[in-house]
Amino acid sequence: MPDMSVTLSGLTLTNPIIPASGTFGFGYEFADLYDINVLGSLSMKGTTKAPRFGNPTPRIAEIPDGLINSVGLQNPGVEKVISEELPKLRQVYSKPVLANISGFSVDEFVECAKRFDEAQGVGILEINISCPNVHGGGMSFGTDPKAAAAVTEAVKKAVKKPVYVKLTPNVTDITVIAKAVEAAGADGVCLINTLLGMRIDLKRRRPVIANKMGGMSGPCLLPLALRMVYQVYETVNIPIIGMGGVASAEDVVEMMLAGASAVEVGAANLVDPFACKRIIEALPETMKKYNIEKLKDIIGGAH
Ligand code: SIN
Repeated sequence: MPDMSVTLSGLTLTNPIIPASGTFGFGYEFADLYDINVLGSLSMKGTTKAPRFGNPTPRIAEIPDGLINSVGLQNPGVEKVISEELPKLRQVYSKPVLANISGFSVDEFVECAKRFDEAQGVGILEINISCPNVHGGGMSFGTDPKAAAAVTEAVKKAVKKPVYVKLTPNVTDITVIAKAVEAAGADGVCLINTLLGMRIDLKRRRPVIANKMGGMSGPCLLPLALRMVYQVYETVNIPIIGMGGVASAEDVVEMMLAGASAVEVGAANLVDPFACKRIIEALPETMKKYNIEKLKDIIGGAH
């Protein structure tokens, strides 16, 4: 068996595959389908301080080779996630997970992060400053380097666990934001979140999605995500979790060559709930094909 292990801020993952937040529930829902302990880690459904019902429906629009979502951070709130969802996950999954945290103010990010910092089974705090589907929070922090740095700095001061900041592609230059969060103390960055898009219903002559716009994801995003991971790798000295359109073991290798230390798989889970398992099983053969003995050796290899 080739060595597929990777390390994120001292945390060793048996392989780099992490289902992306919002595409894998709280993880335990998938445990009826297969033993989810094969996963390197997993990123739980995005969580806010208070419960959120999410955006009005329709929230989903199809696009060629992907989808647009405007879920609006629907979640039961941090207290319920910690008291109910996380224990259910820990019954079926033994590895540390990523807690994906969203907020509408710096204080909310900090409070949520502090709760997950104390929670058993959470290894990394994934600070989501990139949700395109809410007003006054989410992406508004991730498109301004000062606001991105302010959230990062405040969270870092309040917690002990590694802080990874999830970045939006909806900016002119993602490296400016990556540099700002690194300078503010981020232990790593995750990129990319979804790309803002829309569809119009021809019969109704109105946007398909009730919230008009939403975040595009799916295989069509891979080249864009690779470009941004490549650029950010040349800019910062902290680990990158790469994501965006990854659907195969070859895509994972490409992401790692661009500079990712681990790889999140998102929309592919919505098409095939076995996507992550399939990719993990295909990795040894793919490594053999491209003469890779240790997966970690190829990180940034395309530079
Ligand atoms: C959502 O809940 O609207 C999606 C979350 C995200 O894009 O960060």
